[in-house]
Amino acid sequence: MNVVARHVCDIGKFDRDPEKSYTLPAAYYTDAGIYEREKEAIFFKSWNYVCHGSQLSDSGSYITCKVTDQNIVVMRAQDGILRAFYNVCSHRAHELVKGCGRANILTCPYHAWTYHLDGRLRTAVGQKRVDGFESHEFGLKPVQVEEYAGFVFVNLDLGATPLHQQAGSLVDDMKNYCDIVPTLKFSHRLTYEIKANWKNVVDNFLECYHCTIAHPAFVDLVDIHRYRTKVFGIYSSHISPPGRSNNSAYHLNSGGEREFAAWWLWPNVTFNIFPGPANITVLHIMPTGPETTYETLDFFFTEEKPNEDEWSAIRYVDDVLQPEDIGLVESVQRGLHSKGYMQGRLMVDSERTFNSEHGLHHFHSLVLEKLGELK
Ligand code: FES
Ligand SMILES: [Fe+2]
Repeated sequence: MNVVARHVCDIGKFDRDPEKSYTLPAAYYTDAGIYEREKEAIFFKSWNYVCHGSQLSDSGSYITCKVTDQNIVVMRAQDGILRAFYNVCSHRAHELVKGCGRANILTCPYHAWTYHLDGRLRTAVGQKRVDGFESHEFGLKPVQVEEYAGFVFVNLDLGATPLHQQAGSLVDDMKNYCDIVPTLKFSHRLTYEIKANWKNVVDNFLECYHCTIAHPAFVDLVDIHRYRTKVFGIYSSHISPPGRSNNSAYHLNSGGEREFAAWWLWPNVTFNIFPGPANITVLHIMPTGPETTYETLDFFFTEEKPNEDEWSAIRYVDDVLQPEDIGLVESVQRGLHSKGYMQGRLMVDSERTFNSEHGLHHFHSLVLEKLGELK
């Protein structure tokens, strides 16, 4: 008998009620079998952030991205339609393109098969001499693509419900804080390789319980005691009135009255509007293994070239905020292997104050539901 082994993990004292619940048990952050199940049940079935719409507005533009170990290319063909495919040649599986750019056709670097930007095979060298070769069998294999709230997302599940139906009022909520997000321009990308499970990194974003201890400049930039987290369907909002314009984080010549407003969208992307002139920063948290994560931070401003104040904000994030958070999550990742730790307690208070960890409970519940461990 062929029995398929299924990694089932004990959820311990995790509870549907956030005020009674413990955290996800440590094994969820370290176990390779659980990570394989997450790839199938979460990453290959959910909407994954790719870029801002302006980065793919021209016909012939393409951009590549990864969804865990799956390489994807998104491109706008000459007919103006945005399409996404697995970034793999249909001949012998060489990677088709790298990075981003503009092209009229895509040419595989191995044996020079060429493809139209709508995914059809254009030419295969020597195809007329191969008996029964059918071009239409060897087009690129599609995945779903959708533009939402000014950004481009892909979904490997061809049957997945569109993101605009899943995300509810997220786009309207974002517009209330910065109504020109779709017209902003890509300005800068920071990247980080983090020695931590992707959920550990998401957890850290979802609470500000650590902010007063770990982020002295951030608690100067915002009015931390009025920072509030609210959970909705597949996203949560994290909003705070601004703090002092002469704060210790970065220079604010204008726009200091703008609130800090951030949203986490299932499963692994956050959108952040900082005090200052119109801006949005996208933090994307993609696992590369059970205990490693590749993080990108994309900055969008009114102009491609950041001005002096915007550079000062980028430097604050890169030199101060990110190292503070990465140090925390990497320490937690080591601690999750300790024989002295199994499962902690979520610190959720009934008033949902700035210290409350109900955002983590919302996230953990979605993870367990998708894994079929919370009915
Ligand atoms: S693998 Fe692409 S042309 Fe051979
Ligand atoms: Fe933090």
